[in-house]
Amino acid sequence: MESKKLSHKRPANLDIYYYGATYYPEHWGPEDREQDPAWMAEAGFNCVRMAEFAWDYMEPAEGEYRFDLFDEAIARLGEHGIDTILGTPTATPPRWLTLAHPDVLRVNADGVPMQHGSRQHVCPSSETFRRYSRQITRAMATHFADHQHVIGWQTDNELNCHFSECHCPHCQLEFQAYLARVYNDDIDALNAAWGNAFWSLTYRDFNEIPTPKNLYPAYANPAHLLDYYRFISWNMTRFQHEQVAILRETQPRWFVMHNGTFAHIDYRGQFGRDLDFLGFDVYPFFDFDPDTRPYSQAFNLDHARAWTGNFMIPEQQSGPGGQAPYFHDTPERGEVRRMAYTSIAHGADSLLFFRWRTARFGAEEYWCGILDHDNVRRRRYAEVKQLGQELKIVGPEILGTRVRVDVGIAAADVDVYDAHSTMPFGLPSPRQVAETVHTFFTRKHYAVGCVHPSDDLSGLKVYIIPHWALFNPEWLPNLEAFVEGGGVLVLGARTATKDWHNNVIPETPPGLLSRLAGVKVVEYGRQNAPDKRPLTVRFYPGKAVAHSQYWYEQMDILPGTSTLGRWTERHLRLKPAVTARQVGAGSVVYVGTFLTDAVMEGLLPALIERSSGLAPLLPETPEGIHVVVRENAEKRLWFLINGSSGVLKAKELPEGVDLLPGAANAVARPATYLYISANEVRVIKETL
Ligand code: GAL
Repeated sequence: MESKKLSHKRPANLDIYYYGATYYPEHWGPEDREQDPAWMAEAGFNCVRMAEFAWDYMEPAEGEYRFDLFDEAIARLGEHGIDTILGTPTATPPRWLTLAHPDVLRVNADGVPMQHGSRQHVCPSSETFRRYSRQITRAMATHFADHQHVIGWQTDNELNCHFSECHCPHCQLEFQAYLARVYNDDIDALNAAWGNAFWSLTYRDFNEIPTPKNLYPAYANPAHLLDYYRFISWNMTRFQHEQVAILRETQPRWFVMHNGTFAHIDYRGQFGRDLDFLGFDVYPFFDFDPDTRPYSQAFNLDHARAWTGNFMIPEQQSGPGGQAPYFHDTPERGEVRRMAYTSIAHGADSLLFFRWRTARFGAEEYWCGILDHDNVRRRRYAEVKQLGQELKIVGPEILGTRVRVDVGIAAADVDVYDAHSTMPFGLPSPRQVAETVHTFFTRKHYAVGCVHPSDDLSGLKVYIIPHWALFNPEWLPNLEAFVEGGGVLVLGARTATKDWHNNVIPETPPGLLSRLAGVKVVEYGRQNAPDKRPLTVRFYPGKAVAHSQYWYEQMDILPGTSTLGRWTERHLRLKPAVTARQVGAGSVVYVGTFLTDAVMEGLLPALIERSSGLAPLLPETPEGIHVVVRENAEKRLWFLINGSSGVLKAKELPEGVDLLPGAANAVARPATYLYISANEVRVIKETL
């Protein structure tokens, strides 16, 4: 398989900024289908995605294909300058398939097979199902190969979004075969790697190993669980790869993407390398708190970019989402457009809304799109149209730029995430801590992002690894080079305390990072009642204090390591809590507690002092305005996005031109300040 360097800095490499919506011609009658393309063109669309759930239409009986509905839609849209991305429809296998082959159904931990009646009910471990997947993919690819308006594909749809752990008979066998390959047919090696001496878990043969079911009846072996999650990722990668291979061999000019990111898939592995770029679906209203929503959206986007680089958004929320248990807020005036700009600022190299018109039936009949059930164009359509006009200017400027990152937070490692889930101790997950730290820096207008430790760390001033217990020794040289070259590396408590099998290391923590950090952790503890047995860190410089939550560590420091913070209470009184060690031109900071807002506040002066010029992008600008920069060698694009509900004054603006001259509250430029009203956005282009 071809290898491509995945990096948070990688642009999606598209020549056109694609803009549009997901479209389901199979849900609508001829009148709507005839009208839709003109309204879409008026909104500035140049792209739609379709067909990803229409298997029963395209193959109504085994081997009988009909594509007329899609031919018609693609051609009509094409006449209006709108291209099509097609989806392989394998998230919704038709009834004839599951009736003929009930063994393809997924099975949950209770042994209950899934049913026909919603979606994602079939398991890719089944060779029968994969044969059908290849057949429909080939039939579609062959049929559409010469349609000039078909530009690319999405594989399946949000793999693992509803269901990721399957225990069907095919999974049992495939898991065993996977383990036999990974452990070179050496069952003793597996027993040793999993520590099967514990609780009499020893296997004599690979064919004795079940898929693990945690809490059936008690806690499962974390090493067994982690290898099972790795199998799930491998299995999904194989499934997708078969589709990708068919698409690429049929029509090499197509791009191929998939809309992630969900449990137990390693998007930075072969799964991501098989794609031209990743797709990422954006539904900010799943955060039900309007105050935190702009921050969680920003984090989720930066987190998505850490897997493979800039992405396409195949689905961006355009109305309130509703499924049986919930109904989102309705986006207020300007909010749909503002949220789309947040996505664009944080790495979207193309954007489609979900969905064109709200369905009147089915499990998502209240998942509202741009147009309401009654097909009237109202304010959401007007906003989408405004954005469509603006993207004619902004879109080409964005392509080829990357999001600026001064502070990188370690993220996007599926093994680290899965390992945490096997032994969480009620602690915040690595992803949750990354979000806390990300929000801390976003509020203060630093250029913050998420970056994997094996990625290109050049350009970062500070790199923070929150609490990655599972740690791959292969990352060490990259981190050392970063520090030697002048970077500040921050290591949170518990980092590098588990090996790649998910077992505890024999060395004193932080194990292979001990020399670099210049500390040895001699005692640690979970703080279950931090109010009753408080432990406080006092920081230097700055004298800030932070009450430790969740976890403490007591460190011995090695010669050459200095102290940036000390514990103030009880048996830890005056012992180091935060340390720093100069290494080459940079330094390594070790934090013997969990990273919280208060801890970050205490730490920030030291990070500024030790880094080479860490500073906020626009320090004087109020918190409610998000500042994000996309840049390349020639220019900087400054996004100023007001996600609050009031008018705010942005100050110390960069020299440049407004790319959105029609935006409300425009003032003549150059200006030193700018009033930006709620949900309003400015994009300033600074030429370098
Ligand atoms: C996405 C999914 C879509 C639709 C949407 C709204 O996760 O890809 O098919 O279900 O959510 O629920």
